[in-house]
Amino acid sequence: MKKPTVCLIFGGKSSEYEVSLHSAFAVASHIDKGKYEVLKLGITKDGEWYIFDGEERDIFNDTWWQKSEYITPVTLDFSIGCITVFDKTVYSLKPDIVFPVMHGAFGEDGRIQGALEMSGMKFVGCGSLSSAVCMDKYLTKLVAESIGVPCARSAVAYKGELASREALREKISKIGYPVFIKPCRSGSSVGISKVNYASELDTALEKAFYCSDRVIVEEAIDGKEVEAAVMCDGGRIKVSTLGEIGYFGEFYDYDTKYKDKTVSYIIPAKIEKQCERAIRSYCRKLFSSLECKGFCRMDFFVKKDGGVLFNEVNSIPGFTDISMFPKLFINDGYSFSSLIDTLITNEINGTSKPYIMMMW
Ligand SMILES: Nc1ncnc2c1ncn2[C@@H]1O[C@H](COP(=O)(O)OP(=O)(O)O)[C@@H](O)[C@H]1O
Ligand SMILES: [Mg+2]
Repeated sequence: MKKPTVCLIFGGKSSEYEVSLHSAFAVASHIDKGKYEVLKLGITKDGEWYIFDGEERDIFNDTWWQKSEYITPVTLDFSIGCITVFDKTVYSLKPDIVFPVMHGAFGEDGRIQGALEMSGMKFVGCGSLSSAVCMDKYLTKLVAESIGVPCARSAVAYKGELASREALREKISKIGYPVFIKPCRSGSSVGISKVNYASELDTALEKAFYCSDRVIVEEAIDGKEVEAAVMCDGGRIKVSTLGEIGYFGEFYDYDTKYKDKTVSYIIPAKIEKQCERAIRSYCRKLFSSLECKGFCRMDFFVKKDGGVLFNEVNSIPGFTDISMFPKLFINDGYSFSSLIDTLITNEINGTSKPYIMMMW
């Protein structure tokens, strides 16, 4: 029998381009090549699409696009639902399934998902609607709060409000310092600042508005950062064992996430049973009401008094060997390969969406 072809898409015009390369390297290295034919599709930082037929290491090292003998330009053809390859001759490829291993803008925010939906291709992970909502921290919060999932107190600010700076300062000071200033649509902590005093506000706002026209201002939570890997397997939502992030420093910023060797992943998270129960229940509610599909990672804060606050959903979480998402399910008995296989198989079989929506 012919092996199903899985098209891994990586890179893209996002500030998380490098993170995507590392995730894609891990997925490409671990996918069961005895079971699947793998097609690697890279998108450069400039947005050029190529099939890459070379060594996986070149994806990791970001040298894949320099290997002219191994790259062939391609485009996604919406009308006939295939990938058109511009080689010596022009021909079409129709993968059985696409796995976008991309993070941030264009890859995780519903845009590539919308393109794949238009072309009628099956793909792993959340669809365009839920990806777009999960990408936006403000919209996700609105949904969470509307279904009774508690979040940090916050206010939303628009770029236009910079013109009336005093009113904006006033709005933010009502939350009470310290606050976190976060672009609504970013990831990997890019554009985020902790602001301890009003005097630091302008720099933080500038940084956040550089990434996104809408910014969320949140009370700073003093507590543990606890993460759950969530997937839909056989039409049922599975929430992994919870993990806790241990780090030194003010917050879990970009350098801490990707360069700091002292970060620790504590699995299982050292939290009270009732906090764990609350988080697991919130994950199910959120997965259903945000119409997630396939997989995601959901992040929470657990305060010293045991209160649980939802932070965010990552619809395509980091997928490297050291990322929390695979680590959590590996802790629950999957191997890296079987986890990838489960995600793909559920998508092929149409069991990547929950059969029964949560009622509350
Ligand atoms: N309200 C908050 N209170 C305390 N820490 C926060 C808050 N919001 C964000 N952080 C810190 O900033 C990090 C990144 O914020 P997050 O909302 O997860 O954005 P990203 O999508 O960039 O990961 C968090 O992991 C946490 O360390
Ligand atoms: Mg985060």
